[in-house]
Amino acid sequence: MITAENFQSLRATLAGWRKQGLSIGFVPTMGHLHAGHLSLIERARESCDRVVVSIFINPLQFNQASDFLAYPKTLSDDEQKLQAAAVDLLFLPDEKSMYPEGQQGITRVSVPGISAELEGACRPGHFDGVATVVNKLFNLVLPEQAFFGQKDYQQLLLIEQMVQDLNIPVQIHSVATCREADGLAMSSRNSRLSPELRRIAPKLYASLNGLASQLKQGSIFSQILPAAIAELESAGFRVEYISLRDTGLQELQQYIKPCVLLAAAWLGEVRLIDNIQLSQD
Ligand code: PAJ
Repeated sequence: MITAENFQSLRATLAGWRKQGLSIGFVPTMGHLHAGHLSLIERARESCDRVVVSIFINPLQFNQASDFLAYPKTLSDDEQKLQAAAVDLLFLPDEKSMYPEGQQGITRVSVPGISAELEGACRPGHFDGVATVVNKLFNLVLPEQAFFGQKDYQQLLLIEQMVQDLNIPVQIHSVATCREADGLAMSSRNSRLSPELRRIAPKLYASLNGLASQLKQGSIFSQILPAAIAELESAGFRVEYISLRDTGLQELQQYIKPCVLLAAAWLGEVRLIDNIQLSQD
C-alpha cells in the first residue's frame, strides 16, 4: 500500500494508474476503521482496478469542538486494516494542506433542502462541511466511482444530490449498514461508550424495528412514536429525533413503499444515529 501525505505524491501515483487505463474507486473516511468501512472497501475492490481510501478528520463538519477533539485517532491500527484489505493507496492529507487559509471565508458547497432536515437541523453547518470536503477530495482523487454507507443515510442523499447538481463525473455506490451481532450499527464513535452504555445501545435499532413492524401493520406514526421515545428514554437515551420519511426525505405519517425510519439519540456523551429502510413486503 502506498501512503500519500501530500497532494503531489497523490497526483503522481494516480497519474501513473490513469496512464495504464486503470479505474479508480474511492472510499473517503475519518479513520478509526471498522467492518463497516471495510465493507465499502470490499465493494470498491469488486468494481475498480485500484482502491484509494482517505483518512481525514474534517474540522469543517464538526459543529462541536469537543466532538472534533474527542474523535478517535488510531492510525497505525487503521493502516494495518487497510493493508489487510489490499487497499492500493492511503491518502492522508493534513489540515494545513486541506485548509491552508483556515476555515473562514473559503468557498463552501451547500446542498439545500437535505441539509436543513434532521441531522442538518441538529448539527448546523455539518452538511456544508461534508459536501465541501467530499467535493475537495473528489477533485484531488478524481475517482470514477465512490462508495458511501447507508448508515449515514442523509449524507448519502446529499452526496448524490451534489454530484448530480454539479455534474461531477463520479458514480456513487451505496453500501448497506454493517451491524454488530446485537444489532448496533457500527460506528467509530461506539468505542466511546462505557461497557454499561454499550449494553443499552442496541435498543435504538430494536426500537426502529419495533416501529417498522407496527407501521407495516397500518399504525399511524405520530400515534406510536411517543411510546417508543418513552421506552428509549427510560433505558437511558436522550432522543433527538425519530422520523419517518420517504426516500427523498419528505415527512410521512404512514408506511409507504419504500420509506425510511431515521433516528438520532444520545447515550451519555455519545451521539448515535441509525436508520432502517422499509422496502420489503
Ligand atoms: P466516516 O464516519 O469515517 O464514514 C466513512 C464512510 O463509512 C461513510 O460513507 C459512512 O457512511 C460509512 N460507514 C460508517 N459506518 C458504517 C456502517 N456501520 N456500515 C456501512 N458503512 C458505514 O462519513 C464520514 O466519515 C465523513 O462524513 C466523510 C464522508 C469521510 C467526509 O468527511
